Amino acid sequence: MPLQIVRSDITTMPVDAIVNAANESLLGGGGVDGAIHRAAGPQLLAECRTLGGCRTGQAKITKGYRLPARYVIHTVGPVWYGGQRGEQALLTSAYRTSLELAAAHGCRSVAFPLISAGVYGYPKAQALQVAVDTIRAFLQTHAMDVSLVVFDREAYALAEKNFPDLIAG
Ligand code: AR6
Repeated sequence: MPLQIVRSDITTMPVDAIVNAANESLLGGGGVDGAIHRAAGPQLLAECRTLGGCRTGQAKITKGYRLPARYVIHTVGPVWYGGQRGEQALLTSAYRTSLELAAAHGCRSVAFPLISAGVYGYPKAQALQVAVDTIRAFLQTHAMDVSLVVFDREAYALAEKNFPDLIAG
């Protein structure tokens, strides 16, 4: 299945690239960002320091170090301010630029967390819809296996309800 939704910890995914929901500094944080840095080890932060940050809606790539994944693609989703500040376009761009970067590096398998749906406050159902729509559109023209890795119970229940055909297993 080119797109599947799985409930897992993204740091365990044996894929070519995992995507990090980072902030513009690219110097680490909490949530999935903290988990990825802990699992990858300190060399990841050292490489991130050389990148000069990342604008919201854009993406940058590093090696995966101690992770099973070969690469980490660091993208920055929007903070949710109520939906009138271009949040949807920025979230779409975060997925799209990450997928393009993965394709440019020859990745055949990519795993995404639910970008912006934690600390950044994007409503989970809407965040899930943007993720599925943007990944599906990209897969119309690219051969890639994409996993959307859902971590918390609320997001997984939404995925089971709204996208039952995408649930892995
Ligand atoms: N694997 C998969 N998903 C996870 C994991 C994990 N190990 N841990 C958390 N999630 P968040 P954001 C889910 O807050 O909203 C950081 O401090 C989590 O349940 O990690 O984009 C950055 O440095 C949620 O559904 O990212 C930024 O400052 C989703 O990942 C800021 O948070 C995203 O939650 C970015 O906020």
